[in-house]
Amino acid sequence: MGKPSMGKSTPLLFLNIKQLLTLRSSTSGPRRGAQLSEIGLLRDGAVLCAGGKIVSVGTTKQALRDPWYKKHQKTVREVDCTGMVVLPGFVDSHTHPVFAGPRLIDFEERISGATYAEIAEAGGGIRSSLEGVRKSPKSLLISKVATAFNEMAAQGTTTVEAKSGYGLSFDSEMKSLEVIRDAARQWPGTVIATLLGAHVVPSEFKREPDEYVAEVCEKMIPRAADSKLAQFVDVFCDKGAFSAEASERIFAAAGKHGLPVRAHVGQLSATKLQPFLKFRPASLDHMDHVSSEDIVYLAKTETIATFVPGANYFLGHPYPDARRFITAGVPVALATDYNPGSSPTPSMPFIFSLACTQMKMSPAEAISAGTMNGAWALGLGQKKGSIEPGKDADLAGFRVSDYREIPYWFAANHCEFTLLNGTMLKAAKANHSK
Ligand code: NIG
Ligand code: FE
Repeated sequence: MGKPSMGKSTPLLFLNIKQLLTLRSSTSGPRRGAQLSEIGLLRDGAVLCAGGKIVSVGTTKQALRDPWYKKHQKTVREVDCTGMVVLPGFVDSHTHPVFAGPRLIDFEERISGATYAEIAEAGGGIRSSLEGVRKSPKSLLISKVATAFNEMAAQGTTTVEAKSGYGLSFDSEMKSLEVIRDAARQWPGTVIATLLGAHVVPSEFKREPDEYVAEVCEKMIPRAADSKLAQFVDVFCDKGAFSAEASERIFAAAGKHGLPVRAHVGQLSATKLQPFLKFRPASLDHMDHVSSEDIVYLAKTETIATFVPGANYFLGHPYPDARRFITAGVPVALATDYNPGSSPTPSMPFIFSLACTQMKMSPAEAISAGTMNGAWALGLGQKKGSIEPGKDADLAGFRVSDYREIPYWFAANHCEFTLLNGTMLKAAKANHSK
C-alpha cells in the first residue's frame, strides 16, 4: 500500500473485509448497460484512509505487508471488518428534507382511495406543507434536517442532495436553503443543495402562475446563485405543477446564472424530454412515463435517469421499467426521494430492495445506481461513488456475508458503520440481531 498523506485525522485501516465492493471499472463516466454490473468485488479486502481520503485499496495480506504500514502501525487505527461487506457510502441524489412534519391526512385519504393528484387539487399535497416551513423557526428545521441526515447515514448514506421546495416564497425558499447549509455544517457527510422554488405554484399566485415563474427566475435563482446557497436548480414538470414551457424558462434562467439543472419529470404524466436535453440536465428524475423515442435520445447524453421507487411504493403507482433504460444504454441512478408526501424513507437499502424486486434490477446494478451513478448525477463522479485511491473516504460497512443481502433483507438495518469524509459513525448495537 502507498504512503498516506497525513491529514488531521488518524489513519484508519479497514481490514479482513469479507467482501469489498470497490465499484472500480475501466469506464470513466456514468455507468451504462453491462458496466452497471461491474462492482469490483475483492475478497478479504482492506482499505487505508487518511486525511479524509482513500489512500490505498487491496487485500488484507497486501495491507499488512506494506512497508509504510509496518513502520507506522502504532499511529494507525485498525477497524476489523471480519464477516462484513464494505462498499462505497451511498449517494442519495434526490431528497426533500426541509419540512416541518408528516402529511398524515394525505396518507389516510390515499388509503381511502383518493389519488395523489386528487389530493393535491383539493388543496392537500405539497401546498399543505408550506405553512409549517414558512412558520417554523430556522433552528427547528435545522434540527429536523440534521436528524434526517443522521438517519440516512445510519443506513449507509454518506452524500445527500437536499432540495428546498416547501416554502415557495422568496424568503422561505432562501430560509430552506440556509437550513440545508446549516444542517450540513453539523454533519460529517457531503450535502449538495438544490433550489426547488418551482415545486408547485403557491395559492397566492394561483391566478398568475407566470408571475410565480418570474419570481423563481428573477429573484430566487439569482440570489441562490450569488449567495452560493444552491448548486442546482430543480423543477417539478408535470400535470398540476409546471408546464414544459415554464420549465424551459426556469432552466434558461438557471443557466444564465451558472447553475446546472435537474428536474422531476414523467411522474404523473408523460412529457417530451428531448427539448430539455439542450439544457444538459445532470439528472431527470422519477421517469415513470417516458417514450421509447426519448429513451433513445437520453442514451446519447450524459444525463442520468434517476428512479425513486420509494414514491411508487408509497403512492401505489406502477414502477418505471428500468430494464428498458438499461438495455438502451441510459445511465440510471436510484435515490430515496425522502419527503413527507410521496416517500418518507431515509433508507437506500430499502430503495435497492424495491429496485430488485419490483424493477428487476440485479443487486449489483442497484448498488452501482446508488453509488457511482448517484455521484455522477450530482457532478461528483471524480470524488465519490467508488473506493479508489484519491477519492473521498466515504464507506459503508454492513454486517452481512454477501452484498446481495443488502437488498435481500428489507425493513431491516444491517449497516454497522459509515465513514463520512473520514469520520466514523457507528450504528447502535441494538440494530443487529444476526
Ligand atoms: O418527488 N413530485 C414532486 N415532489 C415530490 C413529492 C413532494 C410531496 O408530495 O411533498 C416527489 O415525489
Ligand atoms: Fe422529489
